[in-house]
Amino acid sequence: MNSLNTSATWRALAAKSAEFKAPDFSLNALFAQGERYANFSLAREDLLLDYSKNLLDAETRTLLIQLAEERRLKQAIQAMFAGEIINKTEQRPAHHVALRLPEEQQTNGEVSATLRKMSALVEKIHTGDWTGHSGRQIETVINIGIGGSDLGPAMVVEALRSECLPSLTVQFVSNVDPIHMQQMLERSNPETTLFIVASKSFTTAETLANANYARRWLLKSGCAADCLNRHFVAVSSNVNSALAFGIAEENIYPMWDWVGGRYSLWSAIGLPIALAIGMDKFRQLLAGAHSMDQHFATAEFSENMPVVMGLLSVWYRGFFDTDSFAVVPYSQSLDKLPDFLQQLSMESLGKRVTRDGEPLPVNSGAVIWGTPGTNGQHSYFQLLHQGTCVIPVDFIAVANSNADDAAEQHEQLLANCLAQSLALMEGRENSAEPHRSSPGSRPSNTLILKALSPSALGSLLALFEHQVFVQSVIWDINAFDQWGVELGKTLAKEMLQALGDEAERADLDASSQGLIAQLKRWQGTA
Ligand code: F6P
Repeated sequence: MNSLNTSATWRALAAKSAEFKAPDFSLNALFAQGERYANFSLAREDLLLDYSKNLLDAETRTLLIQLAEERRLKQAIQAMFAGEIINKTEQRPAHHVALRLPEEQQTNGEVSATLRKMSALVEKIHTGDWTGHSGRQIETVINIGIGGSDLGPAMVVEALRSECLPSLTVQFVSNVDPIHMQQMLERSNPETTLFIVASKSFTTAETLANANYARRWLLKSGCAADCLNRHFVAVSSNVNSALAFGIAEENIYPMWDWVGGRYSLWSAIGLPIALAIGMDKFRQLLAGAHSMDQHFATAEFSENMPVVMGLLSVWYRGFFDTDSFAVVPYSQSLDKLPDFLQQLSMESLGKRVTRDGEPLPVNSGAVIWGTPGTNGQHSYFQLLHQGTCVIPVDFIAVANSNADDAAEQHEQLLANCLAQSLALMEGRENSAEPHRSSPGSRPSNTLILKALSPSALGSLLALFEHQVFVQSVIWDINAFDQWGVELGKTLAKEMLQALGDEAERADLDASSQGLIAQLKRWQGTA
């Protein structure tokens, strides 16, 4: 593929960006031209995207779409949906869209069979047919997993808390810090707790350590070794390792190498979601995602939500040196969404070579961060309004609250969301008191969901997945591998060994030696 930054379109975009950086540029002036909301917003089903408060005009959008066509985005989308091997460094497809096909269109028998197997477990747990070692029914499910085997399911369960069955508590433990497990188990009953060991690879050290902790806890609490299988199920593509850990074969829920960890909540990794909200609603989540998949695969680029959002990120990253993007859900239920998006985006786009191994000529993935509004307004929003760096914001609002007695407060929440994007866009001049001046023309998207339903949430998450994919195609990077994480994992093993060694490790670098020596002194093991 031709070098991105030397193409005529890229150069035209660079020239165009100068207009938005000119000292006299103002978003207010663009709004004064009229029709801006009608021209720069998209609505479909229960989701609306207003991207009018961005540093762009119709000409910029045309150029960005031209760029997408030159970078063969249409063909890349088709290849992903066709299940082609697009993750070349691992020689596998990235076919998560196949997980959310409606049953009648499903051609992969294993996907259907796994959904049926999940359904059977959900039914048994909900009816009390599945009991723990003392014959009592399961009241608590603890998912043990990390990264993609934790963040997606934990986020969805939190988001859909109002849909959760009251008789079952679904919890998540991810950190290898034993305090995480300890605190969870202090409020759990070993007779009524089911653990899901969720690990695609079944080699992740943190997850295996926590699973061993859980097993010790059960055994100490009086569960006989031959009853452990009433308290453990696993989700993994590495069935042999799950068996070796001691999980009964019938309790293993498969996933496949063509599902990336951060794209896996739609697979059996979503088992805690299905247990929390029931299988019908889990299928609604899948259906919402599928509906966004169809939109992504068929809509014209100018009408295509993930394409528009992806191109906007490329625009800011390429021409405005934007190092970070904030995601601010005005919904406490979406508290964990920024964490989920952080892995989705940063593990996918944190790459510095093209798919052919050439150094990237332009900026790729940026930092993604955020917390719910209105909380953020009282911590970091000051910098968004008056700081020296420009950070584009994705505001997310939900029209109808799931809370009881919501009338008064929910309107306040929405008013704040609208006010923040307006303040960033309009700014306020005060030449007499410069410290009060807000520059304005600070970009944002606003996404509105009609309600936080399983299907609207499914659509929203698929929208972000595809937005990430769009960026990866423009930059020509592999969004589905994560080799950078491996080095840290390898060195963690070496450091574990060094911490356990009695002798000093003169072969290590001076910093590691010094830190290890101090840790040992303070642990009294030097
Ligand atoms: O953090 C690296 C990573 O490999 C993620 O990509 C993945 O989601 C996570 O670890 C957990 O992996 P597994 O599901 O194999 O335990």
